[in-house]
Amino acid sequence: MKTAIVAALGLAVIGAIAALAQTQSGPTWMRTVVVRNAAADASGNIRVPANYRTTYEFLGSWAVAADQGAGAKQQHIVYASPGAVAAYRKSGHFPDGTVLVKEVYATSTGSMTTGTVSHELALQGWFVMVVDSENDHPGNKLWGDGWGWSWFDANNSLKTTSTDYKTDCQSCHVPARSTQWIYVQGYPALHRCHAPRWPAALSHPSGVRTGLALASWRRTCHSQTECDRDPIPWWTRGQMTLLCDGVP
Ligand code: HEC
Repeated sequence: MKTAIVAALGLAVIGAIAALAQTQSGPTWMRTVVVRNAAADASGNIRVPANYRTTYEFLGSWAVAADQGAGAKQQHIVYASPGAVAAYRKSGHFPDGTVLVKEVYATSTGSMTTGTVSHELALQGWFVMVVDSENDHPGNKLWGDGWGWSWFDANNSLKTTSTDYKTDCQSCHVPARSTQWIYVQGYPALHRCHAPRWPAALSHPSGVRTGLALASWRRTCHSQTECDRDPIPWWTRGQMTLLCDGVP
């Protein structure tokens, strides 16, 4: 179906799509086509989307500690296609067509005025994942379980060296199975409840929560799960409506 839409758009629309990819304006359905188009072709060949550093949303980063000594031996920077964060915060999952790009860097560690610091030195390659909730590529060993999966060496962003996502990728992502195979705990922007939103007058520095002193109660949840598990108490309903970025 999506393939059909892409085909139906035809060559005449390619210029418009390129323009949209630059501005990220236009109707949502068109943006979805643009994003899918950018990371995978109709036959399911995945590639690193062009210009993701300037057009994608920053999700978060990981530092893999050095085996010996201080600092990180690798840094991973993760980006998501435009609109992915808003969609995730609304629905709790990445919608069809979402693309995730993880850069893998070798690092350099040294002394700076902030302490011992590691920074990105050399790009080693990219992991790319594309949401495919409708299983558009049955029989293709790089697609399955709701995603297209591929690794790219730094010298070739267009051709993957991965051959089978089950052995190359998925076994390592099992701990994140319940969150669409994605390690969402590392991405603050996805968590609607990350920061308390009480007006300062209603916050208490200690974070102490008491039913008697409503004004000193402050709600802080660090993940959506925590927020859902501990909903706003009945005695505050109707009195306080500000909760988790306005999500009830
Ligand atoms: C050695 C285990 C391992 C393998 C193999 C692996 N991953 Fe991951 N992947 C992880 C871990 C752990 C994270 C999050 C922490 C990090 O980056 O260090 C992650 C993060 C990612 C991310 C960022 C989104 C997220 O899930 O948080 C993408 C994209 C990704 N991996 C894609 C792939 C693809 C595609 C493959 C196969 C080509 C693959 N990974 C193979 C362990 C692995």
